[in-house]
Amino acid sequence: MELLNQIKEQARKLNRTIVLPEGEEIRTLKATDIILKEGIAKIVLLGDPGKIEHEAEKCGAKIEGAEVINPKTSGKRDSYADMMVEIRKKKGLTKEEALEMLNDPLVYGPMMIKAGDADGEIAGAINATGDVLRPAFQFVKTMPGVSVVSGAFMMFLKDKSFGHDGVLVFADCAVMPDPDAQQLAEIAVTTAKTAKAIVGLEPKVAMLSFSTKGSAKHDLVDKVAQATKLAQSMAPDLKIDGEMQLDAALVKEVGELKAPGSEVAGQANVLVFPGLEAGNIGYKLVQRLAGAEAVGPVLQGMAAPINDLSRGCSVSDIVNMVAITANQAQ
Ligand code: ACO
Repeated sequence: MELLNQIKEQARKLNRTIVLPEGEEIRTLKATDIILKEGIAKIVLLGDPGKIEHEAEKCGAKIEGAEVINPKTSGKRDSYADMMVEIRKKKGLTKEEALEMLNDPLVYGPMMIKAGDADGEIAGAINATGDVLRPAFQFVKTMPGVSVVSGAFMMFLKDKSFGHDGVLVFADCAVMPDPDAQQLAEIAVTTAKTAKAIVGLEPKVAMLSFSTKGSAKHDLVDKVAQATKLAQSMAPDLKIDGEMQLDAALVKEVGELKAPGSEVAGQANVLVFPGLEAGNIGYKLVQRLAGAEAVGPVLQGMAAPINDLSRGCSVSDIVNMVAITANQAQ
């Protein structure tokens, strides 16, 4: 709670512009009302202005302070389409195709960011993850030196003895189904940076496996061991260690026993899962069985902050994600 308040406070200071492509959706409109009232960010709503006004009135959301843009009629369509053709020229995208694509708010939003007309985007309350991410991958792309986008969750545990005072960062829980060693190493480094930038903790990154320091032999173990070496050489200043099992990562006595001398074992606050299956199931287990609050996924590695909501999200989830996105746009 305290951390979320700090994140909102920082967002107020930054005063970023966040575009919400699902502008006709009721939770998005209610969240916009709160965001504007609390001064968390400037908001751009995409959609049909008549429909947006009607839905806002129906649910009692006050959205007068938001900018409303209709992607189908906006005066920026032509220049955005030119940019799209340029970005996708190797793929042979035509201007006609680009103009057609811009009718989709999930394409228009990332193009606003690319053109510098917005700082970040959040969508996913009514759209699937892939549909939110694809245009972002294609037009906003990854940040320099990063080839893979991944999704981190901040886990707020009731038991404060784990992680950083009960806070842990998990990744990848949302994007990359089967990363290779290089991609896993990148995920480790970007997650450490997210943990530092958003949670403000000194990252201790555990590369998780079903083996600790060679206790089991398998190709999957080799992948994590190799990713650990790569991540350590990519970011020698960070504390990254593996491969290790979850108990060795989190429990002091087990860490000392299975990975003696490790700067991470027994005190990890960032958990990097070997693949999306483990990461996605893992965060939901902790959320459901341990009653932890899970905030995310925070997408990392993108050239600008674009975040995906769960379709089951609440109004306050949207408000929180807008604040986090504004912080990422520093
Ligand atoms: N990072 C950066 N770029 C990527 C990534 C990535 N992780 N994945 C794909 N891309 C790029 C590709 O290089 C490609 O670029 P190009 O068109 O310029 O060549 C473009 O995105 C499309 O690539 P495809 O492989 O065709 O992408 P596809 O649409 O098949 O898959 C997707 C991408 C949707 C993210 C897929 O990996 C996926 O479905 N992941 C799982 C998402 C999910 O369902 N998560 C669980 C739910 S979320 C939750 O529970 C919190």
